[in-house]
Amino acid sequence: MINYLEVFKESLNKLKSEGNYRVFADLEKLAGNFPQALNYKDNSVSEVTVWCSNDYLGMSQNKDVLESMTNALKKVGAGSGGTRNISGTNHYHVLLERELCYLHQKEAALLFNSGYLANQATLSTLGKKIPNCVFFSDEKNHASMIQGIKNSGAKKVIFKHNNLDDLEKNLKKFPKSQPKIIAFESVYSMDGDFSPIKSICSLAQKYNALTFLDEVHAVGIYGERGAGVAERDKVMDQVDIIQGTLAKAFGVIGGYITAKKETIDFVRSFSSGFIFTTSLPPCIAAGAYASIRHLKFSSSEREKLFKVVSDLKNSLKKNNIPFIDNKSHIIPVIIGDPILCKNASQMLLDDFQVYVQPINYPTVPRREERLRITASPQHTPKMIKKLVTALCSVYKNLGINKSMSVPLDKETVAPTTPSLAPSDAPAPAPAP
Ligand SMILES: Cc1ncc(COP(=O)(O)O)c(C=O)c1O
Repeated sequence: MINYLEVFKESLNKLKSEGNYRVFADLEKLAGNFPQALNYKDNSVSEVTVWCSNDYLGMSQNKDVLESMTNALKKVGAGSGGTRNISGTNHYHVLLERELCYLHQKEAALLFNSGYLANQATLSTLGKKIPNCVFFSDEKNHASMIQGIKNSGAKKVIFKHNNLDDLEKNLKKFPKSQPKIIAFESVYSMDGDFSPIKSICSLAQKYNALTFLDEVHAVGIYGERGAGVAERDKVMDQVDIIQGTLAKAFGVIGGYITAKKETIDFVRSFSSGFIFTTSLPPCIAAGAYASIRHLKFSSSEREKLFKVVSDLKNSLKKNNIPFIDNKSHIIPVIIGDPILCKNASQMLLDDFQVYVQPINYPTVPRREERLRITASPQHTPKMIKKLVTALCSVYKNLGINKSMSVPLDKETVAPTTPSLAPSDAPAPAPAP
């Protein structure tokens, strides 16, 4: 007899012993008071400052967004009631897809229930349906792209992260007549580095490949109208398929792709992950529409975000807290050890009411465990001061060696000696 529960427990115990077991903070966001939230723990409630949200611009609490969602909810009710094909296409979905076309200057757009699904469903459909297709996938691509490529059953070549020579070396190995798709991101979520979009698109043209660009961590934040890094770099027209999320800087939920109309019609017609699921509630589409339009005409949120990011980076530098000094809004503070990383996060929460979730393997490679700090326009100088003071104290109390953690001058993480606690440091508490 197989004891299934023992099988599960064994795997979970292994995860716990490695320090990679995930524990969710039980939070209640406070509308109108972003980035503050209530933290429910052990029958008590305390107010904390969130420093790890992907609601990068605080749009989940924006007045226009809330009003649009409330009005739509009252007007058409809660759920959509069906798949897009069977009574689930509401006028709000149509308006949102049209708006996404304007945003990315593409002929057509297609909504999915999440950014994950947009990647997974689109790539698996393309790889399955284009005969003899080969994927060229950046080695740091998000799990959703990896899963989509895998599900397609098509051949896959992984190229070195942001490495044009390696990409070209691999492209050259295949006949020009063979269909190819290059899948990559504009801002990599864990290191916060940018990809060379223009150069990758040039290679794609040279070798007759399609380009699929994930702008999940860029939409809303980069570009004059918040269309992402491709807009900022003036290369939107060179990318074949732009994928994005409505859940991060746009503050709502949902994902999408935009491309030429034949491409979108192809995915719309053949993608199981699009066809066989109930569509997003119309009020969600209304909120996302309002958010996109707000950020299209207002740059103040973007400007404030980058001021806070710059102030925080300066303060971290002054206090010798090592982080990956990329050019983006993502601030990875490398700890380099899973247990220390968990303990650092727990101490920040318990002792300083500062919430930064630890990021451990497999989200990042082992020995690159980190506190991934994300700011927003709503974080104040006082909050920055409190965060940096708390980090200094946590580094000291846990014996984290600042000089061993991470190179400060690189856009990517170089292999480093893990920052293990010295032997005379207090023994780390068991992982929560
Ligand atoms: C690079 C990247 N792509 C896609 C996704 C999935 O997007 P969503 O959260 O909208 O499902 C994520 C999520 O964190 C991501 O980091």
